[in-house]
Amino acid sequence: MTHRIAYLPGDGVGPEVAGAARMVSEAAAAKFDIALGFIGCDFGGVAIDHHDDPFPAATRDACAEADAILLGAVGGPKWDGGLKRPEQGLLALRKELGLFANLRPVKIFKGHEAKSPLTPERAEGVDLLIVRELTGGIYFGAREEGDEIARDECAYSREEVERVACVAFEAARARGGRVTSVDKANVLATSRLWRKAVIALRDADFSDVDLDHELVDAMAMKLIQAPARFDVILTENMFGDILSDEASVIAASIGLAPSASIGAGKAGLYEPIHGSAPDIAGEDKANPVGAILSAAMMFRISLAAPDAAAAIENAVEAALAAGHGTADIGGTDGCKAFAGRIAEALA
Ligand code: NAD
Ligand code: IPM
Ligand code: MN
Repeated sequence: MTHRIAYLPGDGVGPEVAGAARMVSEAAAAKFDIALGFIGCDFGGVAIDHHDDPFPAATRDACAEADAILLGAVGGPKWDGGLKRPEQGLLALRKELGLFANLRPVKIFKGHEAKSPLTPERAEGVDLLIVRELTGGIYFGAREEGDEIARDECAYSREEVERVACVAFEAARARGGRVTSVDKANVLATSRLWRKAVIALRDADFSDVDLDHELVDAMAMKLIQAPARFDVILTENMFGDILSDEASVIAASIGLAPSASIGAGKAGLYEPIHGSAPDIAGEDKANPVGAILSAAMMFRISLAAPDAAAAIENAVEAALAAGHGTADIGGTDGCKAFAGRIAEALA
């Protein structure tokens, strides 16, 4: 059986890092005798250029039929201020496939403590998972955009909170058994519903999991102060977007951070958490590890191939432990050369 992978390289460094993830995926597939069929699709800014639509019908169909979607990144200054934005394509893709839970693990690699902007003592032992709600909240509320007044509505239903909280509690069971739910319940109605729903679900179905709550402003501080304290961090769409960029850099660079977006269906979306990095695009400088580890998550979650996933993760660790890497982590390799070393370590 051939696994169909919709391959959406996107914009900026997207094609560079997605190409690296595809190359390493193909090496893992060859090693474990897994058949992969990549279906290349226009998506984001490049799709606006070619089809006047960031998420064209052909890409929609390919994603709907795929077993998994591998994405680089979208966006860039070329499309800022335009009527159609590349980011709209990404939001539509997540929403239409019902990918309501975004898993963003952050782990400090062995020997990388001194590369963190935090003191090595603070960075040591960081191993957390942000579970970000991905298809609700202020990203998807009613919007009004005028020159004098603009409005973005934030709404959450109990059901939307429960289904993503369930993912977080289940993840905690397989990890350290702790969930920290992050909200702004001292101000927002959606956050008070969020907190009530999370507590009720925990009491009903997950009494074996420890649960605590933080307000998002204090959480931003505590992530810097004592990041190793956290296990699973459960939060809403926009707070999760912000906290995950913050958390990623604790482990040295946003370029290392992967993500998986999952939901009701079997197909998941796998993409690094970073954007199209226009400041380094086209220069072979981007760190491919976030994209490559996203591919590892794809093998584990959507392709049910945990051996291939572990082999990719081990190869990344081996290449990093040997002192290789891109400039963002103090290395001297380009994106391609570093990805090549990871593929070699895999073989
Ligand atoms: P960004 O994540 O693209 O870049 C932020 C900083 O991190 C930059 O200095 C960049 O050089 C660096 N960086 C990012 N990825 C890196 C990598 N792999 N290796 C080394 N350094 C890396 O964020 P931004 O500049 O705010 O956004 C640029 C564009 O990307 C915007 O159009 C934004 O909307 C879009 N974006 C897309 C996604 C996505 O496709 N999922 C995510 C975030 C931002
Ligand atoms: C991310 C990005 C997206 C988000 C943008 C590009 C819509 O920042 O994947 O983290 O905010 O979700
Ligand atoms: Mn983001």
